[in-house]
Amino acid sequence: MLEELVRRLEQRKNDGLFRYRLTRQSPQTPHVKIATQSNLSFASNDYLGLANHPEVAAALCRGTLQYGVGSGASHLISGHSEVHHELENALAKFVELPNALLFSTGYMANIAVVTTLVGHHDAVFADKLNHASLNDAALLSKAKLIRYPHLDLESLERALARTNAPNKLVLTDAVFSMDGDIAPIKALLTLCQKHGAWLLVDDAHGFGVLGRAGKGTLHRGLEPVDLNSPHLIYMATLGKAVGVFGAFVAGQPALIEMLIQFARTYGYTTAMPSALACAIMQSLVLLEQEEWRREKLARLIALLKDHYQSSRWPLLASATPIQPLLIRESSTAILLSELLRREGILVPAIRPPTVPMGQARLRISLSASHHEEEVIRLAETLQRAERTI
Ligand SMILES: Cc1ncc(COP(=O)(O)O)c(C=O)c1O
Repeated sequence: MLEELVRRLEQRKNDGLFRYRLTRQSPQTPHVKIATQSNLSFASNDYLGLANHPEVAAALCRGTLQYGVGSGASHLISGHSEVHHELENALAKFVELPNALLFSTGYMANIAVVTTLVGHHDAVFADKLNHASLNDAALLSKAKLIRYPHLDLESLERALARTNAPNKLVLTDAVFSMDGDIAPIKALLTLCQKHGAWLLVDDAHGFGVLGRAGKGTLHRGLEPVDLNSPHLIYMATLGKAVGVFGAFVAGQPALIEMLIQFARTYGYTTAMPSALACAIMQSLVLLEQEEWRREKLARLIALLKDHYQSSRWPLLASATPIQPLLIRESSTAILLSELLRREGILVPAIRPPTVPMGQARLRISLSASHHEEEVIRLAETLQRAERTI
């Protein structure tokens, strides 16, 4: 049996797809220490620079002293504390949806929504570039999974019209995690209303970054999304722009109550420690008040686009802090990532199956805590690398 595992691992190495873990020896900031070396990092989702904020860390410490370290039980037994409750109310108010429910991870939140709403005879429609957790959730639900081409709403509409499943659920990333582009939520919601389908919007990468005061993708743009629509379900994570850990689902009270009653990834798991909820509360205050973080991100995105232009390895069209550099060949993406590492810059190579075959890339993530000179240094190093590889 072990020989078979060794064979499969060797195969992954031969395919250039083997994953190695970097062991960080410092906090998650733009300068991370790995193997005693300092690296300028463009490899984290801490878009607003809150993961190592002293006020967030202090809130975590206060929360630990007040509520202890472990939560001791699931939310349905005795794990649910007053601070979880306050945080759920604060999150619902912030995103302007009626109710919210905390989860330990976004992966679990997506599984909860999909498996609670649809089952064997139902249908799930998913953008082909959605996050793996949405696909896994659909498979686990046993509903029929129909994947439509990326952002192809005509194809989605045809599929919706063809299906006579009793319950239909459309799944979309709001900001696509490996591409950085943004789904047209308003148009998707209109389609779902027309065809009697639910719409689950996964805003893991938009919450805190996009929209008025960082309220997320639903609050972006001139035409507002109908927040009262009973078809709309919102999920956002708390470990990326918020800088802490966890996730929440927001929507109508009946939906949230269904999740409390039926979602297995809610009921059969230990509640997130209350101290983390304290840290998230503090981070939310900073996130809402400190508009300069979003303004700075916008400046850094423009700066990167100004300083790095290439027809060989183009930056994909993205207005978010996820700035992918399309390389295509996995081996070249690894080579470029290694070359940057030798220059003290950390940018991960993203390969299949995380992205489709022939679509390997470098995923540059910008953070409000980067300095302008650091982004220029990255752009110049990439230009030099292009001449050597
Ligand atoms: C789009 C998207 N959804 C969900 C998740 C899962 O969130 P979490 O890390 O909280 O499990 C991620 C990334 O981790 C993501 O990129």
